Amino acid sequence: MLRLLKKQGKASCMILFIAIFLVSLHTVYSETGAGTDADAKISAIISQMTLEEKIVMLHGSSLFNSAGIERLGIEEMKFTDGPFGIREELGRNSWAPVGATDDSATFLPTGPALAATWNNTLALEYGKCIGAEARARGKDVLLGPALNIFRTPLCGRNFDYFTEDPFLNAGITVGYVKGVQSQDVAACLKHYALNNQETERGRIDVQVDERALREIYLYGFEAGIKQGGALTVMGSYNKFRGAWLCENDYLMNKMLKGEWGFKGLVVSDWGATHSSVNSALYGLDVEMGGRGSGPDAYFMGSALLKAVQEGQVDEKIIDEKVRRILHVMFSIKKQQPDRATGAINTPEHRQTVYNVAAEAIVLLKNSAGVLPLNVDKVHTLAVFGDNAMEKHAQGGFGAGVKAKYEITPLAGLQNRLQDKVKINYAQGYKKQFQQTPGGRRFFGAPAPDNTPDTTLIQEAVKIAKSSDAVVIFAGSNRNFESEARDRTDLQLPFGQVELIQAVAAVNPNTVVVMITGAAFDLSVVEKSVSALLWSSFNGSEAGNAYADVLFGKVNPSGKLPYTIPVKLDDIAAHALGTFPGENGKAEYKESILVGYRWFDTKGIEPLYCFGHGLSYSTFEINSVKTDKSKYTQDGTIDVKVTVKNTGQTAGTETIQLYVHDTEASVMRPQKELKGYAKLFLQPGKKQDVHIKIPVKDLAFYSDTAMQWVVEPGQFELLAGFSSRDIHKTTLITVK
Ligand code: GLC
Repeated sequence: MLRLLKKQGKASCMILFIAIFLVSLHTVYSETGAGTDADAKISAIISQMTLEEKIVMLHGSSLFNSAGIERLGIEEMKFTDGPFGIREELGRNSWAPVGATDDSATFLPTGPALAATWNNTLALEYGKCIGAEARARGKDVLLGPALNIFRTPLCGRNFDYFTEDPFLNAGITVGYVKGVQSQDVAACLKHYALNNQETERGRIDVQVDERALREIYLYGFEAGIKQGGALTVMGSYNKFRGAWLCENDYLMNKMLKGEWGFKGLVVSDWGATHSSVNSALYGLDVEMGGRGSGPDAYFMGSALLKAVQEGQVDEKIIDEKVRRILHVMFSIKKQQPDRATGAINTPEHRQTVYNVAAEAIVLLKNSAGVLPLNVDKVHTLAVFGDNAMEKHAQGGFGAGVKAKYEITPLAGLQNRLQDKVKINYAQGYKKQFQQTPGGRRFFGAPAPDNTPDTTLIQEAVKIAKSSDAVVIFAGSNRNFESEARDRTDLQLPFGQVELIQAVAAVNPNTVVVMITGAAFDLSVVEKSVSALLWSSFNGSEAGNAYADVLFGKVNPSGKLPYTIPVKLDDIAAHALGTFPGENGKAEYKESILVGYRWFDTKGIEPLYCFGHGLSYSTFEINSVKTDKSKYTQDGTIDVKVTVKNTGQTAGTETIQLYVHDTEASVMRPQKELKGYAKLFLQPGKKQDVHIKIPVKDLAFYSDTAMQWVVEPGQFELLAGFSSRDIHKTTLITVK
């Protein structure tokens, strides 16, 4: 017995020791935050881990979680889509929703809408909202923001992204990231990098020169890391200069982790990993979206373990990956008592989402002063269009949101107008697709049927004739613009243009609201109506925001985050015939001349230019003054812009500051956005706005010197309300 007790004694001592040790480790893991002591703690934890345990953490333990280590009290890392709302709960190893009843969330306006606000502070609020909702759902990493540059309007995912301009991209990204991470959730900059098309996204090899790479395509990512402190980055599906992004030594090790000093983790896009050793050596930290479940389904699973055991990959490299994962966990206070708890769809969230939606609406045209509609004069309002009732939270190939609610444009008008105005709704056009079996696949979906529905049009025309005003909600939807496929042209689908023409012909007070992700051909619509607005898919509060702008409760202030061309071939990538590329290669021959840079430098007139957006009021810039006339390389230009509201109503204007290098040794765009600020002004009031431009921001990237260069000499500063509505300029010299 004694022997037994002794034996048991020994065994129980051992169990006790392990238990104390575990608790201590668990306590160790959970007691600290990021920072130097966290580094020491991380080293302590790694020193306790077996190689098998380290490898387990480097890949998915389910479709959206990466593994923890139970023995050490480390829980799974939980990832969630998407950039404009927390995706519904999916099965552990299935893309199918589990059908939960507690996983609906706020649908926030999509990327181009947030960018159209040109409001970095609002981007911060947006990030806080979506971060809190991720937290409330128990998630650790939000797979957003999505910030690939608009290189072609045909990219099916532009609705997810922000803009064609790197500087605006950076401003919105930084705000978004800081907001998300303030809620103890890691943001994820995606899709790093050069994922500017969906066509052949899983194999296209992008070739782009160093200058365009840094000045245009990486600029937002670099800001997201250096200014935003983003904790995770998602490697994209495509290749760059011949190497998969998820094993791209230059972009992952040299640029992201080397030059930019990124301390967080790189996660693959789902299924974007192609090897074990190269992925481990060239930058990937966590592989998600394996070919099934279990370590054999992942390149960074059993195969990597074997590679380390055989000496092809040094265990130190594995340690570094685990260190990055633990750094993210500590940084988001994972498993720590003082971690934020988050919340879903609070009144503050609903207010933020409304504010973004309202500021995201762009007034493109109001030539006859049809807008704002006057509730005392409009007794009957006709409302037409499939998009008057379409919901945009879900849809398409990838991430959507099971929205807590989504106020459609028609519902918004009904909310706001109640019985003051009689609303007559007619569909006018409907989203219809070619059903011919085996018909031309529209990059993975049936092609749209653009045949006008004459019955619907006649019904609408009849109602329009007897209405005081008409609003047509037109454009696109989440199935027409979608991940995994690009559009084939700029055409507005479903015969909506014929509806607009027919209705406008019988009622001069016809207003069109375009709801789209990217640019469409609006040239016929623009000629047919005197009032035209645009927004992207505009979130849960969309309908209220449209109603408030249409009836003047909100004075529109949105500014286009991308160029709307007259025709597709006016866009650089199409003019040069390099979209979607051939033989698996896409060569960005336009280099830095993307978006308005191309239109301005080549003298091409767009239909609506980058930064365009009208107000119900009018504004002017009275003066632009800089604090000095000469600056050193490390200086900051303080630009004072005096703005006056010359109209009859209060409103907000966005002052845009562009820079033109008048004596560069290299080709530079005719102008580049280098500063912006929004200003609210009562009618008749004048106010100064100070926009600061660090001289280093005047640099171009020299691919000979392989560094950013500000060449001494003269620069012109152009202040205006869009890239082509320049009011005042001034000159400065850099010594
Ligand atoms: C998708 C998308 C990515 C998303 C991920 C998980 O393919 O490219 O944006 O976050 O897979 O759904």
